[in-house]
Amino acid sequence: MGETPVVRLRDVTKSYGEGAAKTQVLRGVSFDIDKGELIALVGQSGSGKSTLLNIIGGLDRPDAGEVEVLGVDTLKASDSKLANMRNQKFGFVFQAFNLLDHLSVLENVTLPSAFSRTTKDINGRGREALRRVGLSDFAKRRPGELSGGQKQRVAIARALFGSPEILLCDEPTGNLDSETGKEVIDFFRELNAKDGVTLLIVTHERRISSVAQRVIAMRDGMLVETTDEALAAHAGPS
Ligand SMILES: Nc1ncnc2c1ncn2[C@@H]1O[C@H](COP(=O)(O)OP(=O)(O)OP(=O)(O)O)[C@@H](O)[C@H]1O
Ligand SMILES: [Mg+2]
Repeated sequence: MGETPVVRLRDVTKSYGEGAAKTQVLRGVSFDIDKGELIALVGQSGSGKSTLLNIIGGLDRPDAGEVEVLGVDTLKASDSKLANMRNQKFGFVFQAFNLLDHLSVLENVTLPSAFSRTTKDINGRGREALRRVGLSDFAKRRPGELSGGQKQRVAIARALFGSPEILLCDEPTGNLDSETGKEVIDFFRELNAKDGVTLLIVTHERRISSVAQRVIAMRDGMLVETTDEALAAHAGPS
């Protein structure tokens, strides 16, 4: 109790465009993420889930409101401080994996070190991240030689490489078949339960919301807490 939340948002607003073309995406979003939580963020397409994730991760700026990460006001932080936080405090996992095919698996995992001042034992730490996702034997392969689920595990290893405080995942199973998606979900659950990694996962996938401790839904530019049961009642079978 009393610990600084990993993420704290207050009255965050964001719009895109001007005049008649203006879209108000976030209309006053407030919420906290505590250390060790696994939270699913759900909501219709276009409701602002990725926008919110990008604001939390310092990839985008809100129009107004407060955003604090581990007690640091990221809106007032300098660009270099923000870049450091992105590098050290966050791990990002995207639907499209975003791996570079001309690099080996290990080189993909250690890529964040190119933007970091910490140069200690880069390959050792990269191999450790690969071990955590069960891909120790794949270090020298190219991403193009891997299955979809393996690619996503490489992307997760890259996200874990810098020992982040929180993993921000934007539809991490969106490009995976249901069996492979399940493996990735099981892995997220294990990371959270065993290693205490904090996760915020944007998802349409009922199986993620059912393992989450909290499910929050984006609706009309606001966040509402919901329950997996309430989602199930609306979503029907999935
Ligand atoms: N860079 C941008 N410029 C203009 N409009 C944008 C931009 N990014 C997002 N939008 C608009 O903001 C709204 C929210 O987009 P966002 O990508 O956050 O939705 P989402 O909930 O992630 O949707 P999906 O489930 O389809 O990924 C949409 O109406 C989108 O068209
Ligand atoms: Mg999105």
